[in-house]
Amino acid sequence: MTPPESHSNTVSCPHELNDVDLFSAGAQEHWYDAYSILHREAPVHRLAGEGLTPQTDAFILSRYDDINRVVKDPLRFTPITSLMLEQLAASDTPPEQMDYINMMMVSMLTLRPTVELWRAHRKELTDPWVGPGAERHRDMITRRVDALIDQLPSEGDIDFVQAFARPLPQQVMAEVLGFPEADIPQLAAWGEAQVMPFVYGAGHLNRLTNEQLNAQFEKLEGFKEYVQEVVKAKRVKPGNDMISFLTQVTYSALDRKLTDLEINGIVYAMVLGGLETTQYALEQQAQLICDQPERFAALKEDPDLLRVFIEESLRLRAPTQGLSTRLTSQDEMFGDVEVPRGSVLHLRWAAANIDAAEFDCPLDLRLDRKAASRHLSFSAGPRVCPGAGISRLEQQIAWTRLVERCDSIRYGTDNAFLHQPGIMLGTLELNLNIVKSPD
Ligand code: HEM
Repeated sequence: MTPPESHSNTVSCPHELNDVDLFSAGAQEHWYDAYSILHREAPVHRLAGEGLTPQTDAFILSRYDDINRVVKDPLRFTPITSLMLEQLAASDTPPEQMDYINMMMVSMLTLRPTVELWRAHRKELTDPWVGPGAERHRDMITRRVDALIDQLPSEGDIDFVQAFARPLPQQVMAEVLGFPEADIPQLAAWGEAQVMPFVYGAGHLNRLTNEQLNAQFEKLEGFKEYVQEVVKAKRVKPGNDMISFLTQVTYSALDRKLTDLEINGIVYAMVLGGLETTQYALEQQAQLICDQPERFAALKEDPDLLRVFIEESLRLRAPTQGLSTRLTSQDEMFGDVEVPRGSVLHLRWAAANIDAAEFDCPLDLRLDRKAASRHLSFSAGPRVCPGAGISRLEQQIAWTRLVERCDSIRYGTDNAFLHQPGIMLGTLELNLNIVKSPD
């Protein structure tokens, strides 16, 4: 994501509940200070008048048990997208002709309007490629990781974001989907446009102004047509990639093939979800390694520890820190806080992950933690992130090869950085000093 000119560090470190502000510019630098205040004083924190309408409220949830309960009960806690789908379905205008509606929403309308279809969608359409079936990409990802490491200097300072964390998921997702290598820069630019709300959007609802929405849709110009062309070509001559698969598969839940527009929507979701999230996970892992040099030595000596290292880093530094994605469909109680029907719930995954009621010594990265993957960075329940499989695999292979092929990884000389704005825990750059092992 390109550094925004307006990003300045306006939120100062909070000391009490009144100071807590998770969403203004610069809040990123103090998120974890804010979480300890929320846990202590207001684990169910009301944002008065900040629901979907000014008459309703939003609530920030930060306890593990509360969020886990919400995501596992989609009937009581309705995804906000379900409400948007109902509105789309009720409109006289076909959704693909509406302003500011992306193809992902259009395809959701027909492919997964219910919880059952959501599950079928995952199982039949995405799991074989980016969920548990991602294992099929192991050799390809290893090849990509090695090629990126080959390009690093044998010794010296690098920007880890540009040299490794950013290109890896871009290359991997392009190859999974079946896009030509030469189109990766264009795809990356479209990916950046898709995540704009999560970077520049205001407040917990990540709202873009009309001006920003126009800019977003301008930047996305050509994406739909580009994907349509690729889909058409692959219908005629399928290859061994996800888009080809989607052109051929019979979606048994609906007992039919997918339309071009539906495939376009799935591709949109893969590009939106699959690039920056994994980039940020890799960036955070690099920082956790540099923060304690003995960690690198431990992982190099025993690479079996990498699995827990990756889960612990996802827990401690959730790439997607929080999302306002659920509505209460009835009056609820969270502890002693009344949450009326129709309230927005902002699920703060990153805070749940350091809830002392769930995790012993929650702020310690422990390579011997039991059931380390129970963190909520990918959410849980029927809407759990469909790309967790491929993201974990990319992280696993990246660090296996980096640890094996480097003698040391430390912060570089210029190691001051600011986090990028928005709801994701990302840095704009990350200067590292690496020393590669002799070949
Ligand atoms: C470290 C990496 C990632 C993190 C932390 C992450 C996190 C999340 C979270 C928290 C959600 C919301 C779930 C909910 O509302 O309950 C989500 C949804 C989603 N994620 Fe991920 N994600 C990651 C990687 C990926 C990848 C690699 C892909 C695609 C290959 C992907 C695709 C999606 C999609 C499409 C959704 C929306 C739900 C759906 O359409 O089924 N994500 N992700």
